[in-house]
Amino acid sequence: MSSIVSASVTLPTIHVPDNPVWPELSKEEELQLKNEIKSLLVKNNGVLVAHYYTAGVLQDLAEETGGCVADSLEMARFGTEHPASTLVVAGVKFMGETSKILNNEKRVLMPDLNATCSLDEGCPADMFSDYCDQHPEHTVVVYANTSAKVKARSDWVVTSGIALPIIEHLAKKGEKILWGPDKHLGRYVQQLTGADMIFWPGSCVVHEEFRSVALERLKKLHPDAAVLVHPESPEQVVQQADVVGSTTALIKAVQNMDRQEFIVATDAGIFNKMRQVAPGKTLIEAPTMGEGATCQSCARCPWMGMNSLQNLAEVLRTGQNEILVSPELAEKARVPIKRMLDFAAKMKKA
Ligand code: 13P
Ligand code: SF4
Repeated sequence: MSSIVSASVTLPTIHVPDNPVWPELSKEEELQLKNEIKSLLVKNNGVLVAHYYTAGVLQDLAEETGGCVADSLEMARFGTEHPASTLVVAGVKFMGETSKILNNEKRVLMPDLNATCSLDEGCPADMFSDYCDQHPEHTVVVYANTSAKVKARSDWVVTSGIALPIIEHLAKKGEKILWGPDKHLGRYVQQLTGADMIFWPGSCVVHEEFRSVALERLKKLHPDAAVLVHPESPEQVVQQADVVGSTTALIKAVQNMDRQEFIVATDAGIFNKMRQVAPGKTLIEAPTMGEGATCQSCARCPWMGMNSLQNLAEVLRTGQNEILVSPELAEKARVPIKRMLDFAAKMKKA
């Protein structure tokens, strides 16, 4: 028998910043900054690793300079395989921390150390650890969107790209799972696997804003459109999806599905890559407006928005904003991350 039980904890209030507005650059200014960043990357023996939710100009620059633009799983893997001694991570803090944990000998810089994530902030390590202590018979599986301390308290780390097969694997072995922090992704994998799980009640403030009733209406206006949904979204939104998956899975769906129109329920930064891989297709943002809407972010993660050409150039000039994780903590947190990466490598081989 499977069960869905959430921790009865009071989560800290999360301050969601306004989406940053960056001064507009002229074409020449932009080109100048990009050229400066390119030479600073060479000078620092650095490589740029960007997430799909960052500004298109950063994603393109990462690719132009031999870095990568990817989902959080691939960002972690790329950093371990690339020979550069400085990893410049354009994304949110847990991504920089994961890079540092996996590459403690490398220097990891981020354009803005305040770029956090509501899932990370909503899962303080001491509170989470108490919850784990209350359930010693459970295997602790945490989403990558967590602090190094929370990872160090876990048995497995997963990203949205690999959560499903890992939970399936653990459920087959009869393990009971304590899942944290994203309740929506947790519920989604629980429903598909039937695993016996208990949940930390965190959520992503960006994906929680997608509105199911407004989506139903939008689907009626675009009856041939495929609906693509990131599993951090609410259940009624996920239920309307043709494809539910990680950022990479959603990009592949746009590229490979024999459809012309797509309604996309995830951060709008992803459209940059989608347009690149499927230039003729029509992409429509899933609604964040409608009944009960707060639209704090309107499908634009404010923390991802803290990355810009300007502050990227600045950290490369100054060496500021280095991510530091003590070797002892990194050693503990590395175990569950490596478990995930090894599992992913085995899956790829198979
Ligand atoms: P991915 O692992 O799919 O890249 O997602 C990370 C994330 O923060 C989604 O909101
Ligand atoms: Fe975190 Fe949500 Fe932003 Fe992803 S989109 S980084 S889960 S707040």
